[in-house]
This record gives sequence, C-alpha cells and structure tokens, in this order.
Amino acid sequence: MKTTTKPLTLLLCSVFLAAACSDNDSLQVIAPEPEPEPDLVTPKLPALLEYQHSLDAPRPPDDSYDMEAAERGKRLFDGAAGCSGCHSGPQFTDAGTALHEAHEVGADPLYATRTITRKYRTTPLRALWQHPPYYHNGEFNTLAEVVDHYDLVHNLGLQNSDKNDLVEYLKSL
Ligand code: HEC
Repeated sequence: MKTTTKPLTLLLCSVFLAAACSDNDSLQVIAPEPEPEPDLVTPKLPALLEYQHSLDAPRPPDDSYDMEAAERGKRLFDGAAGCSGCHSGPQFTDAGTALHEAHEVGADPLYATRTITRKYRTTPLRALWQHPPYYHNGEFNTLAEVVDHYDLVHNLGLQNSDKNDLVEYLKSL
C-alpha cells in the first residue's frame, strides 16, 4: 500500500474526499483489500444434518391410525402420488442432495427469497402427527389439507379414499 507524508492534505481528503483529492495526482490513498471472511458455517452443516437425522422420532400412539389404510397410502406415496420422488430415504427427504423451487410444491416463495439458495428443502416426514401446522409457514392445519394441496398443485386426481389412505400413512410415520 502506498502511503503519504502530507498530513494536512490527507485530513482535507478525509473531510472533502472527492474535491480535495481530485486535483492532486501525487496523492493516492489506497484502501487495503478487505480480507474475505472465513466461512465457518458451511463445513459444519453436513455433520449437523446427520446429527438431526440421527435423532429418534417418537412413534405414533397405538390405534392413532388405520394400519390397512396406511399400507394402501404407502403404495400411493411411493407410486402414483409421486411423493417419494422428494420425500425419499429413511428420513423421507432428499435434503443434502436437492433443494426445490417454491412452485414445485405450491409453496409461498416469500420466505425462500430471503435465503441464499432461494429454494426450499424437502421437510423430513417424521412424527408428523405430533406437530401441526404444516409447511414452513404453517399454512395447513391438518395433513388432509396438505394432501388436498398436493392433489391440486400436482394435478394428481386422487379419490377421497386415496386421500384418506395417504393421510393415514402420513399419521403412521
Ligand atoms: C417436488 C418435491 C416434493 C414432492 C413431489 C412432494 N413433496 Fe412434500 N414437501 C416438499 C417440500 C420442499 C416441502 C416443504 C414445503 C414448505 O415448507 O413450504 C414439503 C412439505 C411436506 C409436508 C409438510 C411437513 C411439515 O412438517 O411441515 C408434508 C406432510 C408433505 N410434504 C407430504 C407430501 C406428500 C403426501 C406428497 C405426495 C402427495 C409430497 N409431499 C410430495 C417437497 C415435495
């Protein structure tokens, strides 16, 4: 960095920066390049994700869902309804490998626009029975409302019995 020994001019420069320095070619006050801040967060995220996913989810209470309907719901979830395309693996999420645009799941984009990726992560579907409301902004009070929403947004053409089966499956997770 070039320094100067003209304290008065320097003072003037700092007070009347543009005007005082513009006609003084010999004086250049060069700001030091800001050091890039070290990223202390990103390297820690994979381990934190693994830790969160390793926590046991509480099991649903006995008799809180219809097991036969839940089995039919699982087939829909993994098949025609296409849910497992994103809610995959033991935690029912592709987080860590993919993120999704708000429109892919009919979500309000506002919250995502405040993040770096501007996308949503697929929520793990564990102990859903325990924590309504659903979606990041709590816009759905019940699992039935979530299923209705997917039926509409993904144009699934589900019958009422299909919707009921999917809800029973979601209650079983
Ligand atoms: C394209 C990927 C994708 C598909 C396909 C998908 N989901 Fe999701 N799911 C998401 C994302 C992303 C969120 C988070 C949305 C939010 O928070 O706004 C989510 C959230 C949810 C939630 C709310 C969980 C909570 O705790 O708030 C439920 C329940 C759910 N999905 C069930 C389903 C079902 C049932 C299907 C199939 C009919 C399905 N999803 C299909 C990506 C997907």
